Amino acid sequence: MTAVDVVVIGGGAAGLMCAIEAGRRGRRVWVVEHANKLGKKILMSGGGRCNFTNLDIQPENYLSANPRFCRSALARFSQWDFIARVQAHGIAYHEKELGQLFCDESSKLILRMLLDDCAKAGVRLSTDTSITAVTPVADGFELMSSQGPLRCASLVVASGGLSIPKMGASGFGYQLARQFGHALLPTRAGLVPITLSGRPLAAIDGLAGLAIPARLEAGGQSFNSAMLLTHRGLSGPAVLQISSYWDLGQPLQVDLLPGQDAAAFLLQRKAAAPATEFATLLAQLFPKRLAQRISEWKQWQGPLQQHADTALRQIGERLNAWPIPASGTEGYRTAEVTLGGVDTRELSSQTMESCRQPGLYFIGEVVDVTGHLGGYNFQWAWASGYAAGQVC
Ligand code: FDA
Repeated sequence: MTAVDVVVIGGGAAGLMCAIEAGRRGRRVWVVEHANKLGKKILMSGGGRCNFTNLDIQPENYLSANPRFCRSALARFSQWDFIARVQAHGIAYHEKELGQLFCDESSKLILRMLLDDCAKAGVRLSTDTSITAVTPVADGFELMSSQGPLRCASLVVASGGLSIPKMGASGFGYQLARQFGHALLPTRAGLVPITLSGRPLAAIDGLAGLAIPARLEAGGQSFNSAMLLTHRGLSGPAVLQISSYWDLGQPLQVDLLPGQDAAAFLLQRKAAAPATEFATLLAQLFPKRLAQRISEWKQWQGPLQQHADTALRQIGERLNAWPIPASGTEGYRTAEVTLGGVDTRELSSQTMESCRQPGLYFIGEVVDVTGHLGGYNFQWAWASGYAAGQVC
């Protein structure tokens, strides 16, 4: 039977970081990845340029049933620590917006950096290898793998969430958590496009590709950024962000003129130029095709002077708080992350070790810590992987 000190299940961002750190401590580490490649999500992230962290990482940028849990790990391995590694490897990067750091060239460089560091730390990496059973024994774990039986002292579960199954996502981490008696928070797709159906979808037919600034609000949170109309509904950063706070059946609304009092604007335009056509005014506020569609759809037409002030006020209020009758989300097929997962109340926030099973660790997305869009999820993967890597 092969024996190592540490087996890491999952060769993604969190698993590779943990393996590097444990390897540097002289531990014999084996990363077991069931897909045919390591770090697939790193490669596809950030449109191929990997938004690897954010200049402004705060615990408030994370959703969790236990919001304080992420603090310790994020403080011990910060965005500055990861940036220092990127710089040491000579990888050029830039800030796109809102503190989001992307590679100038390609995400491949981030994966290359991690794999080089794994090689230097003597980490063994296996792809196309799956673990089929885990049994706790006196001094660790016995595992059944597609390469035969394994024994290890520490077992690190870094198998990620359920998003993008065709990239290798599996529920294996949750299954293991259950096996060891861990509580799980319900999982659902996050950072995901929102879908419309029926009349609301028909109302945006032909407008796919249009993007406007918008503020979306749901579940007591709001995000002000771009909203994109798609063939299935809504996407873009503002929509992806709010999707993590919205659930089917809950109110979701969009301010189509963020930062502007639409009612006051309409009344002011009526007073200044009463003969202005409503459609013309809308075309000053929105892309032409969208303005035309709103005007036809809501029958907001004719010269402004034909509209009573009370009606204009109502229209303005509507523009600032338009309810979206969303029918759902695109689900795990396109979601960037999985919300929920292993309950952090049974993990050490210092080391990510299970309080139920000594030597068992959960890191990265499988844990109930989910970041906002903008490099926050990778930073959690690096930080939680680093924390476990110091002790496993
Ligand atoms: P991750 O999913 O990366 O790795 C888990 C690994 O475990 C996978 O390789 C999987 O195949 C493997 N695995 C699963 N089950 C297994 C089993 N039974 N046995 C063996 N291996 C198993 N975040 C960010 O901060 N910036 C960004 O730019 C982006 N962009 C982005 C784009 C897209 C399209 C997606 C889908 C996601 C992002 N993200 C992101 C989110 C980010 O990719 C995600 O949060 C991290 O990859 C999570 O890292 P983990 O290592 O926890 O899981």
